[in-house]
Amino acid sequence: KDKSTVSITVVGASGDLAKKKIFPALFALYYEGCLPEHFTIFGYARSKMTDAELRTMVSKTLTCRIDQRENCGEKMDHFLERCFYHPGQYDSPENFLELDKKLKEHEAGRVANRLFYLSIPPNIFIDAVKCASSSASSAKGWTRVIVEKPFGRDSESSSALTRSLKQYLDEDQIFRIDHYLGKELVENLSVLRFSNLIFEPLWSRQYIRNVQFIFAEDFGTEGRGGYFDNYGIIRDIMQNHLLQILALFAMETPVSLDAEDIRNEKVKVLRSMRPLRLDDVVTGQYKSHTRGGVKYPAYIDDKTVPNDSLTPTFAAAALFIDNARWDGVPFLMKAGKALHDRRTEIRVQFRHVPGNLYNKNIGPGLDVATNELVIRVQPDEAIYLKINNKVPGLGMRLDRSNLNLLYAARYSKEIPDAYERLLLDAIEGERRLFIRSDELDAAWSLFTPVLKELDDKKIVPEYYPYGSRGPVGSHYLAARYKVQWGDVG
Ligand code: BG6
Repeated sequence: KDKSTVSITVVGASGDLAKKKIFPALFALYYEGCLPEHFTIFGYARSKMTDAELRTMVSKTLTCRIDQRENCGEKMDHFLERCFYHPGQYDSPENFLELDKKLKEHEAGRVANRLFYLSIPPNIFIDAVKCASSSASSAKGWTRVIVEKPFGRDSESSSALTRSLKQYLDEDQIFRIDHYLGKELVENLSVLRFSNLIFEPLWSRQYIRNVQFIFAEDFGTEGRGGYFDNYGIIRDIMQNHLLQILALFAMETPVSLDAEDIRNEKVKVLRSMRPLRLDDVVTGQYKSHTRGGVKYPAYIDDKTVPNDSLTPTFAAAALFIDNARWDGVPFLMKAGKALHDRRTEIRVQFRHVPGNLYNKNIGPGLDVATNELVIRVQPDEAIYLKINNKVPGLGMRLDRSNLNLLYAARYSKEIPDAYERLLLDAIEGERRLFIRSDELDAAWSLFTPVLKELDDKKIVPEYYPYGSRGPVGSHYLAARYKVQWGDVG
């Protein structure tokens, strides 16, 4: 019998992330039998709420992912019975001491491990860490703290944040979340590369022409403008989510699958990258657009955004890795809100087949299309490879077809939400999918100079209509490196 217990405190329990992601993920883990036998969940926030009110709030967002699952309602009730609430200020050691007292009552003398999930704005972050670590950390078990971005706005503020965190916590207690690392297809990247003979030998400048990381959302900032305006799309998506995927894509083979070995390789590849230059960035901001009689708002129509805001809601960038494997290969990124489509994908464009015998079969002066590997992270998770194929018949005509692995067709099990995997890993002490401080430093070094230049020179973004494909400037940028975006071809 397990004599230990885990107490999970969601700090900022009434916020959006907690309601939409954290509590549902905890319930899914409970439903799957992944949480330890003894556990308690506490919501902590400033608002006055009773345990019953917290349970009502949480229950509204819990779902049994597949309808009609057995015992789901019953399990939900049991889960909710383990959820409690404690109101308190984020900077009050006394309030955290009261929480500590309540946690102890539930822990009932067992060895107690404590996990704090900080789902609160950055300005109150350090105070909460200080209070949690000094007044509510575990006496005999482990204490871990999950923190959400933003981890600063640039190299300097990020280092300052790291220094402050380390006053109260050791690096191995800090779990910096980048939820993209918890996505199924991002985790699968290493499997694809390192356990299939046919990919890894091609994974270099010798065979790969360019790699594209594309993030698109078909909605705007939707009331998050207050946060977003201070950060912009480069900090919100590129510096973390897309760069993390890039690092996993481009790193050398790690010594093992241990967290430290993987993160060592990620840091190495990030440190081999050239800081992004202003010339290699295109920024955009969405403007209002009327379609089908509906008027879609401009970014600056968001009430929390100043009318003269130059904050980019779209960016495209060309990055380079100066090492032997990737010398000269453009790594293009594109990220935007209020575009025509919602998707995240990685596109790997391979080189031409030298002296291709079949060029003459597709028309004078034309070349047979090159292969492209597409990893669609979301939605409709898929991996497909574009190949050239003979159109059946007596003639000799080629077309481009897909070797297609569509997850929905291949696997019947639901794909877990990224937060489920990450929370489970944090409880189990698995750090592979969390960001180490030196990775964070390396990531900021790449973007800080250009972010500063964009601010200092007050660079005006290219305006694009809500729901469009984004600024045309992104095509000129790609063309400069002889690249065509794969998602528009
Ligand atoms: C967050 C960004 O990190 O990721 C948001 O702050 C963005 O702006 C979100 O919408 C996208 O996450 P997902 O998992 O919905 O693709």
